[in-house]
Amino acid sequence: MQSNEERLIELGKNVTTDWLKECLSWCIHQIEKNGQRYKEKFPSACATNGIYRIKDNDDWTNGFWTGMLWLSYQMTGKELFKATAMKNVASFQKRLDDHFVLDHHDIGFLYSLSAVAGFQITGEKACEIEIKQAADVLKSRYHEKGKFIQAWGKYGDPKENRLIIDSLLNLPLLFRASQLTKDQSYHELAKAHYQTLLNTVIREDGTTFHTYFFDPKTQEPTHGATHQGHSDGSIWARGQSWAILGIPLVQSYLESSAFPRNYQQIVKVFLSGLPEDLVPYWDFDFTDKNPSAKDSSSLAIAACGLLEASKTNHFENGKEIAKGMVYQLGQHYFSKGMSDNEGLLIHGVYAFSEGKGVDEPNLWGDYFFMEALVRLLDPDWKKYW
Ligand code: GLY
Repeated sequence: MQSNEERLIELGKNVTTDWLKECLSWCIHQIEKNGQRYKEKFPSACATNGIYRIKDNDDWTNGFWTGMLWLSYQMTGKELFKATAMKNVASFQKRLDDHFVLDHHDIGFLYSLSAVAGFQITGEKACEIEIKQAADVLKSRYHEKGKFIQAWGKYGDPKENRLIIDSLLNLPLLFRASQLTKDQSYHELAKAHYQTLLNTVIREDGTTFHTYFFDPKTQEPTHGATHQGHSDGSIWARGQSWAILGIPLVQSYLESSAFPRNYQQIVKVFLSGLPEDLVPYWDFDFTDKNPSAKDSSSLAIAACGLLEASKTNHFENGKEIAKGMVYQLGQHYFSKGMSDNEGLLIHGVYAFSEGKGVDEPNLWGDYFFMEALVRLLDPDWKKYW
């Protein structure tokens, strides 16, 4: 019997340049159509019956929309995408000025895909200023004694004294700020948080906790716990894929440091836990015999992770496996041709136990599917992270 790894490699052989271009052209068509409805506002984190609600810039997910506008601009050169993305960048500046819904660590998700991408693509000074200011907000959440960035809530709230696996995606903003300002402190702090994270939230066997608590008095690590997963001891699918993508992204800024030895294991846990159709249930506690909702976004994130890791040969056949993932999503989890659906990837899960975005498109699933297509079409594409 073939392993999931072998099956994905086999499926990936179907990916051609024309297939990738066709998928991407539908994504760009959707982004253009959705943009006409959202105008200068933003889509909600997840859809309801396939349609995103129109909202202000007030969630951790707003950067994904801007990131998709930047990808669309880079792939088409259409000025409309750039103009809308730059209006988004201005909205992100206002959000910083007002410190509006920024008492959390997801500053990286917000500002990498807006200001960092914008600076890389346009060189605009406004983006550069924003990167530094945003990095300062993230930096202010660092606990010196425990050597970690507090994930949620007001800084210092003893009930919120924890880091979470998703934070890996917030660290690139700090590395970029260091490069821009030549101030090493952002880099050092990100590196210290990364080390703490590797030592806590990743279990011995390469599986991951969603979150990890620290004692508010001593700042010693105490215990792992879940927030969006099925149980404290389970593998939340998206948490595992945040690790698959976040580790190679962070390592790309740490040229001289060794890649974590358990990276192979982290990926293998994910691959071997995939069900028959190779798209994970939202938590690995669920299987084809005991099914629940699928989280397509988790596979899109993992595909980007393997593409990033394969740049430095840190996972054998990583690119071929990622191609299989993208193919499976594009063939069976793609909104292509569905005129009544605003998402790109269907069948995602945001937070199952809260009943949020279950079996719906979500913005990060859409974004990472598009990023994976762009990475495969243009291996020289410069990441926004
Ligand atoms: N970063 C939150 C989530 O993955 O749902």
